[in-house]
Amino acid sequence: MTESTTRRQWLTHGAALMGTAASGLLLPQHVLAQSGKIRVGFMLPYTGTFAQLGVAIENGVRLAIDEQGGKLGGREIEWFKVDDESEPPKAIENANKLVQRDKVDVLIGTVHSGVQLGIHRVARESGVLNLIPNAGVHVATRAQCAPNVFRTSFSNSQPTMALGEAMVKRGHKKAVWITWKYAAGDEAFEGFKESYTKAGGTIVKELGLPFPNVEFQALLTEIAAIRPDAVACFFAGGGAAKFIRDYAAAGLKDKIPLYGSGFLTEGVLEAAGPAAEGVLTTLHYGDSIETKRNNQFRLNYAKTFKLQPDVYAVQGYDTGLLLIQGANAVRGDLSKKAELYKAMEGATIDSPRGKWTMSKSRNPIQDIYLRQVVGKENKVIGVAAKALADSGAGCRL
Ligand code: PHB
Repeated sequence: MTESTTRRQWLTHGAALMGTAASGLLLPQHVLAQSGKIRVGFMLPYTGTFAQLGVAIENGVRLAIDEQGGKLGGREIEWFKVDDESEPPKAIENANKLVQRDKVDVLIGTVHSGVQLGIHRVARESGVLNLIPNAGVHVATRAQCAPNVFRTSFSNSQPTMALGEAMVKRGHKKAVWITWKYAAGDEAFEGFKESYTKAGGTIVKELGLPFPNVEFQALLTEIAAIRPDAVACFFAGGGAAKFIRDYAAAGLKDKIPLYGSGFLTEGVLEAAGPAAEGVLTTLHYGDSIETKRNNQFRLNYAKTFKLQPDVYAVQGYDTGLLLIQGANAVRGDLSKKAELYKAMEGATIDSPRGKWTMSKSRNPIQDIYLRQVVGKENKVIGVAAKALADSGAGCRL
Protein backbone atom coordinates (compact mmCIF):
# COMPACT_ATOMS: atom_id res chain seq x y z
CA MET A 1 0.00 0.00 0.00
CA THR A 2 1.30 3.45 -0.82
CA GLU A 3 1.98 6.19 1.66
CA SER A 4 -0.77 8.37 0.20
CA THR A 5 -3.55 5.76 0.49
CA THR A 6 -2.56 5.25 4.09
CA ARG A 7 -2.68 8.95 4.76
CA ARG A 8 -6.10 9.19 3.12
CA GLN A 9 -7.37 6.33 5.24
CA TRP A 10 -5.95 7.98 8.29
CA LEU A 11 -7.70 11.22 7.44
CA THR A 12 -11.04 9.48 6.90
CA HIS A 13 -10.53 7.57 10.09
CA GLY A 14 -9.62 10.77 11.92
CA ALA A 15 -12.76 12.51 10.64
CA ALA A 16 -14.88 9.58 11.81
CA LEU A 17 -13.34 9.79 15.25
CA MET A 18 -13.99 13.51 15.43
CA GLY A 19 -17.60 12.77 14.65
CA THR A 20 -17.67 10.31 17.51
CA ALA A 21 -16.07 12.80 19.84
CA ALA A 22 -18.60 15.45 18.87
CA SER A 23 -21.42 13.09 19.75
CA GLY A 24 -19.84 12.49 23.15
CA LEU A 25 -18.78 8.88 22.51
CA LEU A 26 -15.04 9.19 23.04
CA LEU A 27 -13.23 5.90 22.54
CA PRO A 28 -10.89 4.78 25.31
CA GLN A 29 -7.19 5.25 24.60
CA HIS A 30 -6.38 1.55 24.25
CA VAL A 31 -9.07 1.06 21.61
CA LEU A 32 -7.67 4.00 19.67
CA ALA A 33 -4.19 2.51 19.93
CA GLN A 34 -5.43 -0.77 18.50
CA SER A 35 -7.57 0.65 15.73
CA GLY A 36 -4.84 1.38 13.18
CA LYS A 37 -2.17 -0.76 11.66
CA ILE A 38 1.05 -1.58 13.47
CA ARG A 39 3.84 0.30 11.76
CA VAL A 40 6.96 -1.82 11.31
CA GLY A 41 10.13 -0.26 9.89
CA PHE A 42 13.12 -2.07 8.45
CA MET A 43 16.43 -0.24 8.61
CA LEU A 44 18.79 -2.62 6.83
CA PRO A 45 21.52 -2.61 4.19
CA TYR A 46 19.97 -3.14 0.76
CA THR A 47 23.11 -2.02 -1.11
CA GLY A 48 26.83 -2.65 -0.58
CA THR A 49 28.73 -5.66 0.75
CA PHE A 50 25.94 -6.52 3.25
CA ALA A 51 23.01 -6.12 0.80
CA GLN A 52 22.15 -9.83 0.74
CA LEU A 53 22.17 -9.93 4.53
CA GLY A 54 19.52 -7.22 4.68
CA VAL A 55 17.31 -9.04 2.19
CA ALA A 56 17.64 -12.35 4.06
CA ILE A 57 16.68 -10.68 7.36
CA GLU A 58 13.61 -9.00 5.86
CA ASN A 59 12.56 -12.27 4.24
CA GLY A 60 12.90 -14.07 7.56
CA VAL A 61 10.80 -11.54 9.45
CA ARG A 62 8.05 -11.64 6.82
CA LEU A 63 8.03 -15.43 6.69
CA ALA A 64 7.58 -15.79 10.45
CA ILE A 65 4.68 -13.35 10.46
CA ASP A 66 3.04 -14.72 7.29
CA GLU A 67 3.17 -18.25 8.68
CA GLN A 68 1.06 -17.01 11.60
CA GLY A 69 -1.59 -15.20 9.60
CA GLY A 70 0.21 -11.99 8.63
CA LYS A 71 -0.91 -9.95 11.65
CA LEU A 72 0.57 -8.84 14.97
CA GLY A 73 -1.67 -9.29 18.00
CA GLY A 74 -4.69 -9.21 15.68
CA ARG A 75 -3.67 -5.99 13.95
CA GLU A 76 -2.66 -5.53 10.36
CA ILE A 77 0.82 -4.31 9.53
CA GLU A 78 2.08 -1.40 7.52
CA TRP A 79 5.70 -1.82 6.44
CA PHE A 80 8.36 0.85 5.99
CA LYS A 81 11.90 0.50 4.65
CA VAL A 82 15.14 2.47 4.72
CA ASP A 83 18.41 1.36 3.10
CA ASP A 84 21.12 2.15 5.67
CA GLU A 85 23.92 1.30 3.16
CA SER A 86 26.05 0.11 6.14
CA GLU A 87 27.07 3.77 6.48
CA PRO A 88 27.53 4.81 10.12
CA PRO A 89 27.61 8.57 9.42
CA LYS A 90 24.06 8.38 7.99
CA ALA A 91 22.68 6.17 10.76
CA ILE A 92 20.98 8.73 12.98
CA GLU A 93 19.32 10.49 10.06
CA ASN A 94 18.16 7.19 8.61
CA ALA A 95 16.79 5.95 11.93
CA ASN A 96 14.89 9.22 12.32
CA LYS A 97 13.28 8.75 8.90
CA LEU A 98 11.55 5.73 10.38
CA VAL A 99 10.99 7.05 13.89
CA GLN A 100 10.06 10.68 13.28
CA ARG A 101 8.80 10.77 9.70
CA ASP A 102 7.12 7.36 9.46
CA LYS A 103 6.26 7.08 13.16
CA VAL A 104 7.00 3.38 13.31
CA ASP A 105 5.99 1.38 16.37
CA VAL A 106 8.91 -1.00 15.87
CA LEU A 107 12.28 -0.44 14.24
CA ILE A 108 13.92 -3.65 13.01
CA GLY A 109 17.60 -3.04 12.33
CA THR A 110 20.39 -3.47 11.58
CA VAL A 111 23.36 -5.50 10.31
CA HIS A 112 26.43 -3.24 10.77
CA SER A 113 27.65 -2.57 14.33
CA GLY A 114 28.65 1.04 13.59
CA VAL A 115 25.23 1.82 12.15
CA GLN A 116 23.64 0.12 15.15
CA LEU A 117 25.22 2.70 17.44
CA GLY A 118 23.27 5.41 15.62
CA ILE A 119 20.02 3.44 15.84
CA HIS A 120 20.74 2.82 19.50
CA ARG A 121 20.98 6.50 20.24
CA VAL A 122 17.67 7.17 18.51
CA ALA A 123 16.03 4.19 20.24
CA ARG A 124 17.19 5.33 23.67
CA GLU A 125 16.13 8.91 23.10
CA SER A 126 12.75 8.17 21.52
CA GLY A 127 11.88 5.01 23.44
CA VAL A 128 10.86 3.26 20.20
CA LEU A 129 10.96 -0.53 20.30
CA ASN A 130 14.15 -1.67 18.53
CA LEU A 131 14.76 -5.28 17.56
CA ILE A 132 18.33 -5.96 16.46
CA PRO A 133 18.32 -8.77 13.89
CA ASN A 134 22.10 -8.95 13.44
CA ALA A 135 24.57 -6.28 14.58
CA GLY A 136 26.52 -7.66 17.52
CA VAL A 137 28.00 -4.47 18.98
CA HIS A 138 28.63 -5.19 22.66
CA VAL A 139 27.40 -1.99 24.29
CA ALA A 140 23.86 -2.44 22.95
CA THR A 141 23.31 -5.27 25.42
CA ARG A 142 26.00 -4.35 27.96
CA ALA A 143 26.67 -0.92 29.48
CA GLN A 144 24.09 0.83 27.27
CA CYS A 145 21.42 -1.86 27.40
CA ALA A 146 17.90 -0.45 27.32
CA PRO A 147 14.44 -1.77 28.18
CA ASN A 148 13.18 -1.14 24.64
CA VAL A 149 16.12 -2.77 22.81
CA PHE A 150 16.17 -6.54 22.20
CA ARG A 151 18.73 -8.49 20.18
CA THR A 152 17.72 -11.72 18.44
CA SER A 153 21.12 -12.51 16.91
CA PHE A 154 24.37 -12.64 18.96
CA SER A 155 26.92 -10.40 20.63
CA ASN A 156 30.07 -9.98 18.55
CA SER A 157 32.25 -12.10 20.82
CA GLN A 158 29.74 -14.97 21.16
CA PRO A 159 30.47 -16.89 17.93
CA THR A 160 34.25 -16.69 18.36
CA MET A 161 34.18 -17.53 22.07
CA ALA A 162 34.33 -21.18 21.05
CA LEU A 163 36.53 -20.92 17.97
CA GLY A 164 39.99 -20.87 19.57
CA GLU A 165 39.49 -24.06 21.51
CA ALA A 166 38.33 -25.90 18.38
CA MET A 167 41.53 -24.81 16.61
CA VAL A 168 43.88 -25.85 19.42
CA LYS A 169 42.10 -29.22 19.65
CA ARG A 170 43.05 -29.72 16.00
CA GLY A 171 46.68 -29.00 16.79
CA HIS A 172 46.93 -25.40 15.55
CA LYS A 173 48.86 -23.59 18.25
CA LYS A 174 50.05 -20.49 16.38
CA ALA A 175 47.48 -18.40 14.58
CA VAL A 176 47.17 -15.17 12.64
CA TRP A 177 43.95 -13.21 13.12
CA ILE A 178 42.61 -11.07 10.26
CA THR A 179 39.51 -8.86 10.06
CA TRP A 180 37.85 -5.68 8.95
CA LYS A 181 38.87 -3.09 11.53
CA TYR A 182 35.61 -1.92 13.06
CA ALA A 183 33.54 -2.83 16.11
CA ALA A 184 32.34 -6.21 14.79
CA GLY A 185 35.83 -7.41 13.87
CA ASP A 186 37.48 -6.04 16.99
CA GLU A 187 34.88 -7.54 19.30
CA ALA A 188 34.95 -10.87 17.45
CA PHE A 189 38.68 -10.80 18.15
CA GLU A 190 37.99 -10.41 21.90
CA GLY A 191 36.09 -13.71 21.91
CA PHE A 192 38.71 -15.43 19.79
CA LYS A 193 41.59 -14.20 21.90
CA GLU A 194 39.99 -15.37 25.11
CA SER A 195 39.16 -18.80 23.78
CA TYR A 196 42.41 -19.36 21.89
CA THR A 197 44.82 -18.26 24.60
CA LYS A 198 42.88 -20.09 27.32
CA ALA A 199 43.21 -23.29 25.28
CA GLY A 200 46.98 -22.74 25.02
CA GLY A 201 47.26 -21.09 21.59
CA THR A 202 49.39 -18.07 20.68
CA ILE A 203 48.23 -15.29 18.37
CA VAL A 204 51.36 -14.40 16.42
CA LYS A 205 49.92 -11.49 14.43
CA GLU A 206 46.74 -9.40 14.16
CA LEU A 207 46.01 -8.08 10.70
CA GLY A 208 43.27 -5.74 9.56
CA LEU A 209 41.91 -3.52 6.84
CA PRO A 210 39.15 -0.89 6.87
CA PHE A 211 35.52 -1.94 6.27
CA PRO A 212 34.41 -2.70 3.52
CA ASN A 213 37.80 -2.84 1.77
CA VAL A 214 38.56 -6.09 -0.11
CA GLU A 215 42.14 -5.49 -1.23
CA PHE A 216 43.48 -8.56 0.60
CA GLN A 217 46.60 -9.22 -1.48
CA ALA A 218 49.29 -7.57 0.65
CA LEU A 219 47.88 -9.14 3.82
CA LEU A 220 47.80 -12.60 2.26
CA THR A 221 51.43 -12.19 1.25
CA GLU A 222 52.22 -11.32 4.87
CA ILE A 223 50.40 -14.44 6.11
CA ALA A 224 52.37 -16.60 3.66
CA ALA A 225 55.61 -15.13 5.05
CA ILE A 226 54.61 -15.68 8.70
CA ARG A 227 53.53 -19.31 8.06
CA PRO A 228 51.28 -19.74 11.10
CA ASP A 229 49.61 -23.09 11.89
CA ALA A 230 46.24 -21.58 11.00
CA VAL A 231 44.39 -18.36 10.20
CA ALA A 232 41.23 -17.18 11.97
CA CYS A 233 39.09 -14.31 10.70
CA PHE A 234 35.94 -12.23 10.76
CA PHE A 235 34.46 -11.27 7.39
CA ALA A 236 30.89 -11.37 6.13
CA GLY A 237 28.76 -10.88 3.03
CA GLY A 238 30.32 -10.08 -0.33
CA GLY A 239 33.70 -9.36 1.27
CA ALA A 240 33.77 -12.82 2.86
CA ALA A 241 33.22 -14.54 -0.49
CA LYS A 242 36.10 -12.60 -1.96
CA PHE A 243 38.38 -13.32 1.01
CA ILE A 244 37.76 -17.06 0.70
CA ARG A 245 38.49 -16.99 -3.04
CA ASP A 246 41.59 -14.81 -2.66
CA TYR A 247 42.92 -17.02 0.16
CA ALA A 248 42.76 -20.06 -2.11
CA ALA A 249 44.08 -18.17 -5.14
CA ALA A 250 47.11 -17.06 -3.10
CA GLY A 251 47.93 -20.76 -2.65
CA LEU A 252 47.24 -20.74 1.11
CA LYS A 253 44.21 -23.03 1.27
CA ASP A 254 46.13 -26.32 1.33
CA LYS A 255 49.03 -25.01 3.43
CA ILE A 256 47.48 -22.99 6.26
CA PRO A 257 43.96 -24.02 7.32
CA LEU A 258 41.41 -21.21 7.34
CA TYR A 259 38.99 -20.83 10.27
CA GLY A 260 36.45 -18.15 11.00
CA SER A 261 33.60 -16.72 12.87
CA GLY A 262 30.81 -18.56 11.01
CA PHE A 263 29.61 -15.49 9.12
CA LEU A 264 32.56 -16.14 6.82
CA THR A 265 30.67 -18.95 5.09
CA GLU A 266 27.06 -17.73 5.42
CA GLY A 267 25.16 -16.88 2.26
CA VAL A 268 28.37 -16.97 0.22
CA LEU A 269 28.90 -20.61 -0.70
CA GLU A 270 27.71 -20.17 -4.31
CA ALA A 271 29.92 -17.11 -4.78
CA ALA A 272 32.96 -18.60 -3.05
CA GLY A 273 32.80 -21.91 -4.95
CA PRO A 274 35.28 -24.74 -4.28
CA ALA A 275 37.61 -22.37 -2.39
CA ALA A 276 35.25 -22.67 0.60
CA GLU A 277 35.33 -26.47 0.79
CA GLY A 278 36.42 -27.74 4.21
CA VAL A 279 36.56 -24.35 5.97
CA LEU A 280 35.76 -24.72 9.70
CA THR A 281 33.79 -22.09 11.58
CA THR A 282 31.76 -21.56 14.76
CA LEU A 283 28.30 -20.01 14.80
CA HIS A 284 24.85 -20.19 16.39
CA TYR A 285 23.35 -21.87 13.31
CA GLY A 286 24.22 -24.55 10.77
CA ASP A 287 22.28 -25.52 7.64
CA SER A 288 22.24 -29.19 8.53
CA ILE A 289 20.69 -28.99 12.02
CA GLU A 290 18.55 -32.09 11.90
CA THR A 291 15.35 -31.01 13.60
CA LYS A 292 11.81 -30.89 12.31
CA ARG A 293 11.78 -27.16 13.11
CA ASN A 294 14.83 -26.42 10.98
CA ASN A 295 13.76 -28.66 8.11
CA GLN A 296 10.33 -27.08 7.98
CA PHE A 297 11.79 -23.58 8.11
CA ARG A 298 14.28 -24.33 5.33
CA LEU A 299 11.60 -25.82 3.14
CA ASN A 300 9.16 -22.90 3.61
CA TYR A 301 11.89 -20.32 3.09
CA ALA A 302 13.15 -21.98 -0.09
CA LYS A 303 9.61 -22.33 -1.47
CA THR A 304 8.67 -18.73 -0.67
CA PHE A 305 11.81 -16.91 -1.78
CA LYS A 306 13.46 -19.39 -4.21
CA LEU A 307 16.62 -19.01 -2.13
CA GLN A 308 18.39 -21.10 0.46
CA PRO A 309 18.18 -19.59 3.96
CA ASP A 310 21.25 -18.72 6.00
CA VAL A 311 21.94 -17.46 9.52
CA TYR A 312 20.66 -13.98 8.62
CA ALA A 313 17.33 -15.43 7.46
CA VAL A 314 17.12 -17.33 10.75
CA GLN A 315 17.83 -14.19 12.77
CA GLY A 316 15.12 -12.32 10.83
CA TYR A 317 12.73 -15.20 11.38
CA ASP A 318 13.41 -15.15 15.12
CA THR A 319 12.90 -11.39 15.18
CA GLY A 320 9.45 -12.03 13.69
CA LEU A 321 8.76 -14.74 16.28
CA LEU A 322 9.77 -12.45 19.14
CA LEU A 323 7.61 -9.62 17.84
CA ILE A 324 4.64 -11.98 17.48
CA GLN A 325 5.05 -13.14 21.08
CA GLY A 326 5.25 -9.59 22.36
CA ALA A 327 2.33 -8.30 20.28
CA ASN A 328 0.13 -11.27 21.22
CA ALA A 329 0.79 -10.68 24.92
CA VAL A 330 -0.61 -7.14 24.67
CA ARG A 331 -3.26 -8.04 22.06
CA GLY A 332 -1.71 -5.67 19.56
CA ASP A 333 -1.51 -2.68 21.89
CA LEU A 334 2.22 -1.93 21.79
CA SER A 335 1.70 1.13 23.97
CA LYS A 336 1.46 -1.24 26.96
CA LYS A 337 5.21 -1.17 27.29
CA ALA A 338 5.72 -2.83 30.66
CA GLU A 339 3.63 -5.82 29.63
CA LEU A 340 5.22 -5.95 26.19
CA TYR A 341 8.79 -5.93 27.49
CA LYS A 342 7.96 -8.49 30.14
CA ALA A 343 6.62 -10.88 27.52
CA MET A 344 9.63 -10.34 25.29
CA GLU A 345 12.30 -10.65 27.96
CA GLY A 346 10.74 -13.88 29.19
CA ALA A 347 10.30 -15.32 25.71
CA THR A 348 11.59 -18.69 24.62
CA ILE A 349 12.14 -18.64 20.89
CA ASP A 350 11.49 -21.92 19.10
CA SER A 351 14.08 -21.16 16.45
CA PRO A 352 15.46 -23.16 13.53
CA ARG A 353 18.83 -22.78 15.34
CA GLY A 354 17.37 -24.55 18.41
CA LYS A 355 15.35 -23.11 21.29
CA TRP A 356 16.88 -20.04 22.92
CA THR A 357 15.99 -17.59 25.67
CA MET A 358 16.72 -13.92 26.29
CA SER A 359 19.39 -12.97 28.80
CA LYS A 360 18.62 -10.25 31.35
CA SER A 361 20.47 -7.79 29.15
CA ARG A 362 18.30 -8.86 26.14
CA ASN A 363 20.73 -10.96 24.11
CA PRO A 364 20.22 -14.65 23.15
CA ILE A 365 21.53 -17.44 25.37
CA GLN A 366 22.31 -20.03 22.73
CA ASP A 367 24.36 -22.99 21.56
CA ILE A 368 27.35 -22.37 19.30
CA TYR A 369 27.96 -25.02 16.67
CA LEU A 370 31.18 -26.14 15.02
CA ARG A 371 30.54 -26.35 11.28
CA GLN A 372 32.41 -27.37 8.19
CA VAL A 373 31.71 -26.44 4.59
CA VAL A 374 30.74 -29.54 2.63
CA GLY A 375 29.60 -28.73 -0.90
CA LYS A 376 27.03 -25.95 -0.65
CA GLU A 377 26.27 -26.56 3.00
CA ASN A 378 27.50 -25.46 6.43
CA LYS A 379 27.44 -28.89 8.01
CA VAL A 380 27.22 -29.12 11.80
CA ILE A 381 29.97 -31.37 13.13
CA GLY A 382 29.64 -30.61 16.83
CA VAL A 383 28.47 -28.26 19.55
CA ALA A 384 31.34 -25.93 20.40
CA ALA A 385 29.60 -24.21 23.35
CA LYS A 386 26.36 -25.03 25.09
CA ALA A 387 23.87 -22.32 26.19
CA LEU A 388 26.43 -19.55 25.82
CA ALA A 389 25.45 -16.18 27.29
CA ASP A 390 27.15 -12.85 26.71
CA SER A 391 28.51 -11.29 29.92
CA GLY A 392 26.09 -8.37 29.72
CA ALA A 393 28.76 -6.45 31.62
CA GLY A 394 27.52 -3.10 32.94
CA CYS A 395 23.85 -3.67 32.09
CA ARG A 396 21.55 -2.75 34.95
CA LEU A 397 18.18 -4.03 33.85
C1 PHB B 1 28.30 -6.37 12.57
O1 PHB B 1 28.74 -5.32 12.03
O2 PHB B 1 27.94 -6.39 13.76
C2 PHB B 1 28.22 -7.62 11.79
C3 PHB B 1 28.06 -7.56 10.42
C4 PHB B 1 27.94 -8.74 9.68
C5 PHB B 1 27.97 -9.96 10.33
C6 PHB B 1 28.13 -10.02 11.71
C7 PHB B 1 28.25 -8.84 12.45
O3 PHB B 1 27.84 -11.08 9.64
